[in-house]
Amino acid sequence: SFEVKIASSGATFSVPKDKSVYEVLSENGIDIMVSCEQGVCGTCLTRVLEGEPDHRDLYLDDDERAANDQFTPCCSRAKSKTLVLDL
Ligand code: FES
Repeated sequence: SFEVKIASSGATFSVPKDKSVYEVLSENGIDIMVSCEQGVCGTCLTRVLEGEPDHRDLYLDDDERAANDQFTPCCSRAKSKTLVLDL
């Protein structure tokens, strides 16, 4: 598991293996717009301020992945212990 931190509030949530970042945020009252929930459409794209995403989408290109400043919370995860999200 890894943690996501909400930059605006400082709130931190743990993301277990069997849940997406989107699911955990939504359970905690933070709504992100989603559509495909499969990493295809890019609707859920969220800015990352710190940490390294584990990109599992099919939406971002290689350069965008390498920049590590955005990710798709419907399916992507984290390689670092924490991701700080611009929310
Ligand atoms: Fe489509 Fe996340 S909802 S990429």
